[in-house]
Amino acid sequence: MISVLFVCLGNICRSPAAEGVFLDLLDKKSLREKFHIDSAGTSAHHIGERADQRMRSHAAKRSIELPSISRKLVAEDFDKFSYIVVMDESNYRNTIRLAQSEDDKHKVLKMADFTPSYSQGEIPDPYYGGASGFELVLDMLEEGCEKLLTYLMKKEV
Ligand code: 4NP
Repeated sequence: MISVLFVCLGNICRSPAAEGVFLDLLDKKSLREKFHIDSAGTSAHHIGERADQRMRSHAAKRSIELPSISRKLVAEDFDKFSYIVVMDESNYRNTIRLAQSEDDKHKVLKMADFTPSYSQGEIPDPYYGGASGFELVLDMLEEGCEKLLTYLMKKEV
């Protein structure tokens, strides 16, 4: 099994969307049984909540379901996951802070490194913005998940 954990701040917008987009991609490629996928947030503010209703409805328009229930990232996630994929630089710093070793640090990847069509350098937080922000996140994640999957499959063979 290849295990991947997607991380953002609240675990209600970007990382649940990344999880849903990645799972949808795995289903389309009949690869789901090869992967263990989850998501988490660096903050505790939304623990127990489903993904934000706005993100769920934008994803549903693309026939993508978001199954996540928000939880906080913990140091033990480094033992359970081979790859931890963060959405922005703040997530990166907060995730690296929980790493116990250099090997742990090498598990942390930035989603924006897999979105060459976009120059943002981060997956932008859509929480306080309008509909276009949610669409942009999903557009970026569709490219990012496709490229991430190609990267992981090459690394794991
Ligand atoms: P996420 O978005 O990190 O993509 O889940 C946010 C969710 C909640 C908040 C900020 C960003 N908040 O401030 O409550």
